Amino acid sequence: MSIWSPTSWREKPILQQPTYPNKDDLSRVLKELENYPPLVFAGEAKRLKEQLADVAQGNAFLLQGGDCAESFSEFHADNIRDTFKALMQMAVVMTYAGGVPVVKVGRLGGQFAKPRSSDTETFDGVELASYRGDIINGVEFTKEARVPDPERMIKAYNQASATQNLLRAFATGGLADLHQVHSWNLDFAHKSEVSEQYEKLAHDIENSLKFMQACGITSKTYRNLRETDFYTSHEALLLPYEEAFTRRDSISGEWYDTSAHMLWIGDRTRQLDGAHVEYLKGVKNPIGVKAGPTMEPQDLIKLCQTLNPDNEFGRLNVIVRMGANKVGEGMPKLIRAVEKEGINVLWSCDPMHGNTIKSSNNYKTRPVDAILTEMKQFFQVHRAEGTIAGGVHLEMTGKNVTECIGGSFTVTEEDLSSRYHTHCDPRLNADQSLEIAFLIADTLKESRK
Ligand code: PEP
Ligand code: CO
Repeated sequence: MSIWSPTSWREKPILQQPTYPNKDDLSRVLKELENYPPLVFAGEAKRLKEQLADVAQGNAFLLQGGDCAESFSEFHADNIRDTFKALMQMAVVMTYAGGVPVVKVGRLGGQFAKPRSSDTETFDGVELASYRGDIINGVEFTKEARVPDPERMIKAYNQASATQNLLRAFATGGLADLHQVHSWNLDFAHKSEVSEQYEKLAHDIENSLKFMQACGITSKTYRNLRETDFYTSHEALLLPYEEAFTRRDSISGEWYDTSAHMLWIGDRTRQLDGAHVEYLKGVKNPIGVKAGPTMEPQDLIKLCQTLNPDNEFGRLNVIVRMGANKVGEGMPKLIRAVEKEGINVLWSCDPMHGNTIKSSNNYKTRPVDAILTEMKQFFQVHRAEGTIAGGVHLEMTGKNVTECIGGSFTVTEEDLSSRYHTHCDPRLNADQSLEIAFLIADTLKESRK
C-alpha cells in the first residue's frame, strides 16, 4: 500500500482541473499560500466531527447551505450577513418546531471551484473554455477571462478569510443571540403563510425567553442563548489549493485541511482510485461524498471503507442527490448495502442537484416542488428502512433572488430574468428556504413522536 502524504494525490488520475498556462506562476502562488495562516483550527474541525457523530446517531440534525459558487463580484458584508440570517432562521425553525438541535454548516468562505459537465461552452457559435469558478477563471464570456490564473487563489483566500472572520463574529458577537430571532427575518421577506408561521414562532420563542429571564437564565449568564457554533465547508475540488492548506495539528500530529471545517468530494470526482479520494482520505476533518444516481452500492461501500477505515461516527457524510424521481428507487439499495456491512454514515439529502431543468425561456432553474418532493422521499425512505435522515444540503442565499421556480410566494418562469444572479446553479431564496425549513421541522417532529 502506498503511503499517504498531502501530495500523494498527485500520483493519481485527476478530473476537473484547470491547466495553468504558466507553471512558474503556479508554483510561486502555491509557495505563498503554504505560508498563509490556516483559516480554521484543527480543534474546531474535531468539534464539528463530534457534533456530526450526534447527527449520525439521530440526536441532532445537520443544516448545510449557502452559495453554489461564491464569487468575487458578490463579495459583500450584507450578502454574508443575509445568508447567515437565513440559515439561523431555518435552524431555529427546525430546533423549535422540530425539537432537535441543529448543526449549522455554511457553503461559505471557500466555495469557489466548480466541476463542469463540459470543458467548453458555446454561445452564439463561439466556443470557449468553461467557467470553473472565480478561484480559477472569470465568468465573462471572453477568451482572456477564461484563461486559468493562479493569482485568483490568493484573492479567493483573502475573501474566504474575511468571510470566515465575519461569520465567527456573527456567531459569537451578538447576531446569533436567540433574542435576535425577529431580526433574522429578512426585510424583503414576503407576507406569506410561512412568514406568518415564522412570526408566530418567533413570538413564542420571545415569550419563552422572557420566562427564562424571570428564572435567571439570560444571554449574559448562558452562552448557548447568546452564541452559536457555525462551521464552514466547500467542495475540495481544486487540490493544489487544498494541499497548500494541509497542515499538521500541533496537538495530535494529525493532518487537517485548514481551508474549511468540512470538505466534500463532488459526484463527478469520487472515483475510488482518483486524486480527490486519495487526498481526502488522509485529512482528519469531517468529510462528505456526493452520491448521484450512478452511485452503485458496491462503490459506496468501498468509498466508505477507504474514507472512513475506522468506521467513526461523524467522519463521513453521504450526501444523496439523485433527483425527486430517482431517490425512491436509488437510495434504499445504498442504505441496505451500508447497513449490511455495519458501516456508520451520516445520510443527508441534497435536493438541488438532481432537480435542475431548463425553463422554456432558457434559464437553468429548479422547481421548488421537486426539491420538496425529494426531501419528503428522503425522509420516507429512511423511515421505511429504519435508518436516520440526518441532514439537508442546500444551495440557497439570503438574497431576494429569482432563480428557483415555485414556492409559497410563487416565482414564475417569467420572473427568472428579474433577479437571476447566481454564477453557477440556481439557489433558493430566503422565502423558499424557510418553506423547506418548516417542512423539515414538521417531519422531524412527526418522526420523533
Ligand atoms: C455542488 O454541490 O455544487 C455540485 C457540483 O454538486 P455535485 O457534485 O453533487 O454535482
Ligand atoms: Co451547485
